[in-house]
Amino acid sequence: RDSSSNSRGALVVLEGLDRCGKTTQASRLAQYLEGLGHSVELWRFPDRTTSVGQMISSYLSNESQLDDHTIHLLFSANRWEKRSLMETKLKGGTTIILDRYSYSGVAFSCAKGLNFEWCKAPEVGLLAPDLVLYLNISPKMAAERKGYGSERYEQIEFQNQVVEAYRDLMIGSNWQIVDACQPMEVIEKELQEIVLDCVKKCQNGAPLSDLWS
Ligand code: TMP
Repeated sequence: RDSSSNSRGALVVLEGLDRCGKTTQASRLAQYLEGLGHSVELWRFPDRTTSVGQMISSYLSNESQLDDHTIHLLFSANRWEKRSLMETKLKGGTTIILDRYSYSGVAFSCAKGLNFEWCKAPEVGLLAPDLVLYLNISPKMAAERKGYGSERYEQIEFQNQVVEAYRDLMIGSNWQIVDACQPMEVIEKELQEIVLDCVKKCQNGAPLSDLWS
């Protein structure tokens, strides 16, 4: 492994609709990289362990009501409170596999009708991921999966709007789109290949940048 001073970890984000399989794949990816001897951590947003995260969690389970703009800013604040730790970890050589990020923030709030640019603004200055993996599944297929419908946003009509917003975010980006309806092992292999390539580029000193660049 490259141990030069500019060797850093990669920031890898998994995005997609609810029940697309992100969480399972994120943890498998982390295990895979760990098995290869890489330093790796599995993170997720919302991070429900912080006090902001607890407000988000109670909103998502319909225990509390919040104005759409307010919850949007809380999701963003939840990322900001982890930004410096994230930077320290990456610069220290740890790769972070991230289950949802700013793209979820924008997609889910735009799906409610909030303005696209307004939604992006509070995310500016957070760390830009080195790789975004989009697990592609139709809202209909996602709804047929086990455990669907237990949280606030898990409704087909709403998820249709989320897909539209994700599409807007993809324009001009270099997201890797993976078919989330394939067998789990096939998806796993596909992701491993893409991610390993990215991890190597970051070890070789690809610079860290900020959103939205
Ligand atoms: P989770 O199921 O991955 O924990 O995410 C909880 C829900 O929160 C999910 O429906 C996506 C939504 N979400 C937002 O609306 N804004 C955000 O910034 C994030 C990270 C998630």
